[in-house]
Parts: sequence; C-alpha cells; structure tokens
Amino acid sequence: MKTVKVKDKEFELFLTQEVIEKAIGDIAEKMNKDLAEKDPLFICVLNGSFIYAAELMKRVSIPCEVSFVKMSSYQGISSSGKIKEIYGLEEDIKGRTVVVVEDIVDTGYTMSLMLEQLVCDEPKEILVSTMLLKPEALKVDVKLDYVAMEIPSDFIVGYGLDYDGYGRNLPDIYKIKNS
Ligand code: IMP
Ligand code: MG
Repeated sequence: MKTVKVKDKEFELFLTQEVIEKAIGDIAEKMNKDLAEKDPLFICVLNGSFIYAAELMKRVSIPCEVSFVKMSSYQGISSSGKIKEIYGLEEDIKGRTVVVVEDIVDTGYTMSLMLEQLVCDEPKEILVSTMLLKPEALKVDVKLDYVAMEIPSDFIVGYGLDYDGYGRNLPDIYKIKNS
C-alpha cells in the first residue's frame, strides 16, 4: 500500500485521482441536466475546494458564473467558542441560483453556518455540492444536493485537503494510518 508522510503523520492511499474524478464527472453530468436553465453562480469555498472546484467546473458545460470565498475562523464568545464568517463574496446573489462547492462536510457546522449567512442575501435557491461527506460524523442536519463520495470518519489529506496546511497538493486522497 502506497504511503506518504505529511509533517509528523503517516497516511495511506485511500482514493485515487481516477476514482475521485469519475465521481466528479457523475456530479457534473447531473448538474448539467438540473441547472441548464438556471444561470447558476457557483461559490467555491477556499482553500480546500480548489482542486475539486477546478475539476468540477471543467466538466460543467452549461452557462454559469464561478466565484470564490473563504470562511474566516476565529475564537469568539459563542457557545462553540468559534465564529466563522464568509468573506470575499463580490457578486450580488439576490434572486439567483447559488451552488456552494465544498471539499468536505464533516460535522456539518461549517456548511450550516455558511448557509445561514447566504440566506440573508436572499438568493432564489441555494444548492450544496461537496466532494466528500463523512455521514457518521454529521452533527447537524444540512441539506446536501450533490455529494460526490461518502467516506468513513477517518482523517484524510490530498486533493485540496490539508493536514496542518500541508498535503493539499497530493493528487490522490490518503487516510491517516492506524485510525
Ligand atoms: P465541519 O464544519 O466539521 O463539517 O468541517 C468542515 C471543514 O473541516 C472542512 O471544510 C475541512 O476544511 C475540515 N476537515 C474536515 N474533515 C477533514 C479531513 O479529514 N481532512 C482535512 N480537513 C478536514
Ligand atoms: Mg473546507
């Protein structure tokens, strides 16, 4: 089994680029059918989604716009101790079909916070696409419209996902060893 070391941890090959891109192709095909008349605005969430977003958008062939945002994350006074806010959205989303493009939904907290904030700008509808979903880790109910792959709750790196900032450039996805 192919392994890599990212910083202090060992990871083993979990999903190859070929497998991932087959799943991404299926999602794009579905979007091409569902969204053809909707003039969608894709909002890709950096940093993690940069490879997924690129591979997905290369396969989406309908008229659309593509934009990028980040979620700031800082300690604050709230029940969870963390506050997350979208920044970098320049388009007016009022009345539009918006498709959020995320790398992974784990507990679902990040996505549900993002949706709460996007709704305030009165889009016509918000659809959610994630490359990966860890169904067993979900803690909140989030509406997910396009999920490329479901995976176990192990920690993974590669294909845009990082461990402490590293490993995003790995072309395949690796999972942590002995977990
Ligand atoms: P959530 O708020 O728990 O759903 O977490 C979402 C964010 O946590 C993702 O956007 C990722 O940045 C990060 N994340 C969750 N699981 C992993 C993983 O296995 N590897 C790397 N990052 C992860
Ligand atoms: Mg992310």
